[in-house]
Amino acid sequence: MGPSESPQSAYREHVSSVCTVVEEALQVSADAGHAFDGVVFHSGTAASYHADDLGVPFRSTPHFARLTPLGGPGHLVLCRPGRKPLIAWVNPTDHWEEGPEPLDGAYAESIDVREAPDPLAAGILLGDLSRCAYVGNDPDLAQRLGMPAAAVEPRVLMAVLDWHRGFKTTWEIDCIREANRIAAAGHRAARAGFERRLSERRIHADYLEAIGALDGETPYPNIIAWDDRSAILHYQRKRTSRPDPGRSFLIDAGASCGGYASDVTRSYASPSAHPVFVEALDRMEDLQRDLAQSVEPGGSFVALHARAVAGVTAILCDLGVLRVGHSEALERKLALPFLPHGVGHHLGLQVHDVGGQQVDRAGRMRPPPDEHPYLRTTRDLAPRQVVTVEPGLYFVPQLLAPHRSGPDRGCFEWSLVDDLLPCGGIRIEDDVRVTESGSENLTRPVVPGHRESLGGAAA
Ligand code: GLY
Ligand code: MN
Ligand code: MN
Repeated sequence: MGPSESPQSAYREHVSSVCTVVEEALQVSADAGHAFDGVVFHSGTAASYHADDLGVPFRSTPHFARLTPLGGPGHLVLCRPGRKPLIAWVNPTDHWEEGPEPLDGAYAESIDVREAPDPLAAGILLGDLSRCAYVGNDPDLAQRLGMPAAAVEPRVLMAVLDWHRGFKTTWEIDCIREANRIAAAGHRAARAGFERRLSERRIHADYLEAIGALDGETPYPNIIAWDDRSAILHYQRKRTSRPDPGRSFLIDAGASCGGYASDVTRSYASPSAHPVFVEALDRMEDLQRDLAQSVEPGGSFVALHARAVAGVTAILCDLGVLRVGHSEALERKLALPFLPHGVGHHLGLQVHDVGGQQVDRAGRMRPPPDEHPYLRTTRDLAPRQVVTVEPGLYFVPQLLAPHRSGPDRGCFEWSLVDDLLPCGGIRIEDDVRVTESGSENLTRPVVPGHRESLGGAAA
């Protein structure tokens, strides 16, 4: 379930540190006048498609998943101060579905395990829950288990839990490192597919095959795009035809380990790409490496984003896409239509992990600056955080259209913009862990950049 090279003791320490966080959350909640005996974490109630008996693919709620990698709906974990967590896992007795794979090894030893046929029976196995808080997606179940509405995800308690999700344990970091190693096999296959100009759909299939995953087992839907489609940030079509002409290619695809995600993007240009696009790709590679290396404790993520915008601005000016100098282009914010997303986000059980805009355990939030509304991370960098660093440079027709007739229209070299539109865009994304003194790039050692050979990554 988790990284095979991580010692089992790392998992035990992980569970113990999550329990310490739960105790802290209970204490903070009690200090605020909402005393609870413990917290019930629910893996979740599964949903069906509207007016259908077909189930929507299920994912455990993340706070539950932080305590145990056991898959499937209905399970409950009770955490009480000074006690081992107690899981009542649901093993359905009907003949329609298989139960989850039972816990073994350190996963089972770190937790007391009981088995129940359904969630209500699981609740009964846990005992009197009327003085417990509930964390999960089904307030009705909480009520049926005896927990009042005020006990469902209380704000003060959740703020402490969410805040600490931002600091990864050694086991969690090992999971994300392993998720990068798994994704690397997929990225190798995808790059080979780029070189052979295979279809988006075929490259997607090759990626899944290489990482040994089914479609629903990746942490997010793969983005695999040739040419102009690489400028659609969440492009999902996966066309069946081979690319024509196949100038540029973008793949944003990760893998899961122990429930933890990797999130990795590479962009490539073929010899038929516009030479300015080829140069832009080289410059973006340098910019991304520079940004990733500058991640350090105490650093400001908002400042990192500003540096990404400044870097993209310089590239656009130097390559002649913008017809003004760096400082004027920066002042006029001319790069914004070319970089319409944040430079990164926290990464963990969720691809866009919780707490990126939370600045303290009391739940105070720092919204993104007005001009960068899509920046998901405003929290300052600190050891044990894992973030993505993913600058982009795209030629997006909808975003450029207003500038063609706006007050800044003379600042753009429109004929060059029009020549570059068919190449779409560039995004390069690594996962970076903040250390005590700097950072560790979890992606680069296993997924080479576009200038390096497939055999191994250069430093
Ligand atoms: N794969 C989604 C993202 O990069 O944020
Ligand atoms: Mn990302
Ligand atoms: Mn991504």
